[in-house]
Order: sequence, then structure tokens, then C-alpha cells
Amino acid sequence: MLNIAISFIALVFLLGLVAYVLILIANNSRALSINQNRADLESELLKARVDQIMEAKRLEDEKAKLSWNGFRKFRVASKVKETHDITSFYLSPHDGKPLPGFFPGQFLTFQFHIPGNAQPVVRCYSLSDSPYHPDRYRVSIKKVPAPRGEPKAPPGLVSNYFHESINEHDIVDVKAPSGQFYINMNVKTPVVLLAGGVGITPVLSMLNALVEIESQREIWFFLGVRNKKEHVMKEHLEKVAKENPNVNVKIFYSSPDEGDKEGDDYHVKGRVSVENIKPFLPSNNYDFYICAPPPMVKDLRADLAAWGTPKAHIHFEAFGPATVKKCKTEPAKEEASKEEAPKIDIRFTKSGKILPWNPNLTSLLEFAEKNGIPLDSGCRAGNCGTCLTAIKNGEVTYVGEPGSPPEEGSCLACIAIPKGNLTLDA
Ligand SMILES: Cc1cc2nc3c(=O)[nH]c(=O)nc-3n(C[C@H](O)[C@H](O)[C@H](O)COP(=O)(O)OP(=O)(O)OC[C@H]3O[C@@H](n4cnc5c(N)ncnc54)[C@H](O)[C@@H]3O)c2cc1C
Ligand code: FES
Repeated sequence: MLNIAISFIALVFLLGLVAYVLILIANNSRALSINQNRADLESELLKARVDQIMEAKRLEDEKAKLSWNGFRKFRVASKVKETHDITSFYLSPHDGKPLPGFFPGQFLTFQFHIPGNAQPVVRCYSLSDSPYHPDRYRVSIKKVPAPRGEPKAPPGLVSNYFHESINEHDIVDVKAPSGQFYINMNVKTPVVLLAGGVGITPVLSMLNALVEIESQREIWFFLGVRNKKEHVMKEHLEKVAKENPNVNVKIFYSSPDEGDKEGDDYHVKGRVSVENIKPFLPSNNYDFYICAPPPMVKDLRADLAAWGTPKAHIHFEAFGPATVKKCKTEPAKEEASKEEAPKIDIRFTKSGKILPWNPNLTSLLEFAEKNGIPLDSGCRAGNCGTCLTAIKNGEVTYVGEPGSPPEEGSCLACIAIPKGNLTLDA
């Protein structure tokens, strides 16, 4: 009897042991399969990342191969009126050779020798169409009037010259596309494009590019204008929204005219603000791309941040009026110069010159130009990055806000003045 009991206990023990071992094996193989899945996922992600880097590199290489230094001649292939004060210019390379692509959001830099101006004038204009047209570029330019309340001030120099004096078949001098404000086309995250007035140009390029590659990303496009008279690219935006279920276009009129119809011409009466776009968006979980006049960009950035949007998801560019900024800073500089300023030396290593800083000037760019030291420039307002110059020694103070922070050890010469003795790589 005792033997039977012992055998029974031994059998139960054995069965328990077998069950335990089986459970261990099952758990192990589950863990192995989870690990395998995780490894597969990680390798997929790694592959996607490598593909993304390779694609970016391929585009960069292609761009570099076709790109050019300095100014290249372009012919105005056509000039198309978009609204009463915005006109598009289609540009073909005069040499007939292929054009490099660009990243949607980048801009072109133009140089003009305008009669009555001793110095050539340089301005930036965003590429307003997708990059997938290798034979032409498009820019869309607003004719800038004198500031409100200053009727005697001269109207915008280059924008008016473009509208009035540049016609089909004319030749213009253009630098290769550049700029840091562009959309990453290799990700699938939902995106919000926000534009005020002619600030539509870079974000329209982004929208058109996404639509052309048939991206399935969730896309919101908010455009703010005053009324129908200013409603730029109206038919195009309506067509894009109609043909692409993932694209939502919402138009805001801040002061609609009597005949402008809500629900037909526009969706919201008011400005493009975070408060006004919130009802459309389920969350702030988007990449935001903003282009508008500086005050609107400032408000949108601040309100998106207050909504909890991570800084890395807020991308922006402002079309700052370089001339006005310059006019406004001049009196302050003159005041400062009356005081006894300590002597500051600026050393330009490439040019081999050491020159005393002139505190009456508004920027290191202006100082370099006045002294015949070649420095590239574009917007002259801290937005385009063209004047980025390496600092070999010393520090600078910014008199304007950079569109994006300059690289470590460099300065944006167009909005920088020296703090003390300075050595620049120029
Ligand atoms: C990266 C970037 C991209 C851009 N993309 C576009 C684009 O796609 N489309 C577009 O239309 N613009 C764009 N801009 C803006 C564009 O570069 C010019 O700034 C704009 O066209 C005005 O240039 P302007 O020569 O006509 O005016 P400016 O001559 O620079 O004058 C600007 C303003 O200052 C006023 N002013 C001039 N002199 C005086 C004075 N003595 N006293 C008082 N006021 C004065 C003028 O009346 C005008 O209102 C972009 C800017 C940047 C930086
Ligand atoms: S010229 Fe554009 S940032 Fe200086």
C-alpha cells in the first residue's frame, strides 16, 4: 500500500515536472518569437532609415551634379497673373541644360541691376510649384506697395520691377535653389501647412509635391487672405482638395467683401490662428509648416508651443522686409555711434584685411560690402542662410531674429554686428 502511495506521488511529481518543462519550453519559444518579431521590426526600421538616408543622399548627389555656383541665366518662359497683385513667373534655363531638383519649400535668389541703383539688388523668392518639373522653375511674386501710413515711401523695389519691367523672354540672373525650410518627403507623418497671403508659395510647393507623389499622408492646408480679391490659386486649391481625399483645404478671409460667399469662396471668417484651426484638428500631433508675414509667424509659433506642440514639429519661414528692417535700425545705430564706442577690429582672413568696425553700419554684411569683401547674400534679413560666415575668433550680437539658428561657430552676417574684435573666414 505504501509502495503504491509512493509510486502515485512519484508519478504526480513526474507529471508536474513534465508540465513545468513544457510550460518553460512554450514560454521560451513565445519569448523567442517575440524577440524574433522585435528583431524583424528593428531590422525593418533600420532598413527604412537606411533607404531614407540613401534616397536623401541620391537626391543631394543629383542636385549637386546639376547645381551651379553664382548666378545662372534664366529666360522668363511665361508670366501669369494670379491675383491683382501676385504674378507667377515660369523660368527656363537659358543654356537649355537640365535643372537640379529642390526640396519643396526652398527658394531662388535673384540679382538685378536696376537703373538708378548703384549696387546690384538681391532678393529671394520661394519656388511655388513642386520640384518634379525638370525643365522649369516657378516663383510667384507679390507687388509690394509703400507701407500703410507712409505714402511717400518708395514702393518695394524688386517686386515692382518684376511686375512692371520683367516680361516673357527676358533674361534674369538666378542662384541655385537653397534654404533650410523644406518638408521631409520621406516620412508618413500627418502634416499641417499654414500660410498667410503670399506666404503660400513655399507651402504650396510642399502641397503640390505631396499630391504629385500621391502621398497618403493626412494633409491640412490653411490659407489666410483678406478676401476673394486676394484669394491666390483658388481654382488650383479647390481642384487638389476635390481630387485627393487626404487633403483638407480651409480658406480664411479676414475681411470678406460683400459678395464673398462663406462656404463657397471661403470657410472661416477670421485669421489663421491656432484658436481658429483647433476645431478642424483632432490633436496637435502633426508636423506644422508655417510661412507668413513675421507677426503671424510669431503668433502661430507661440500659440502652437502653448498648445504643447514640440518645438521640433514647428517649422517656419517669414518673408521679412529687409529694407524696412534696415530703415528702422538706422536711427538707433546713429544714436549709439554718438557715444564713444570702443575701437573694434574686424579681420577677414581670406581677403587678408584688418579693418576698424564702423558702428554706423547695420550689419557685418554691409561692412564687408562697403569694404569690397565678397560675401554672398540673399534675403538680408536672417532668413535664407546665404550669408552664413564662419567665425574664427570673437563673438557677434544679433540685431534681428535668425529664421533658423546659424551653425555652431558661424554667423549670419546680414543681421550680426561684432561684440568685440572679430575674425571672419571671408
Ligand atoms: C526666403 C524668402 C522667400 C521669399 N519668397 C517670396 C515669395 O515667394 N513671394 C514674394 O512675393 N515674396 C517673397 N519673399 C519676400 C521678397 O524677398 C522681398 O522681400 C519682397 O518682394 C519685397 O522686396 P522689394 O524689393 O519689392 O521691397 P523693398 O524695396 O525691400 O521694400 C520693402 C518695403 O519697404 C518699403 N520701403 C522701401 N524704402 C523705404 C523707405 N526709405 N522708407 C520707408 N519704407 C520703405 C517699401 O515700400 C516696401 O513696403 C521672400 C523672402 C524671403 C526671405
Ligand atoms: S542674407 Fe539671408 S540670412 Fe543673411
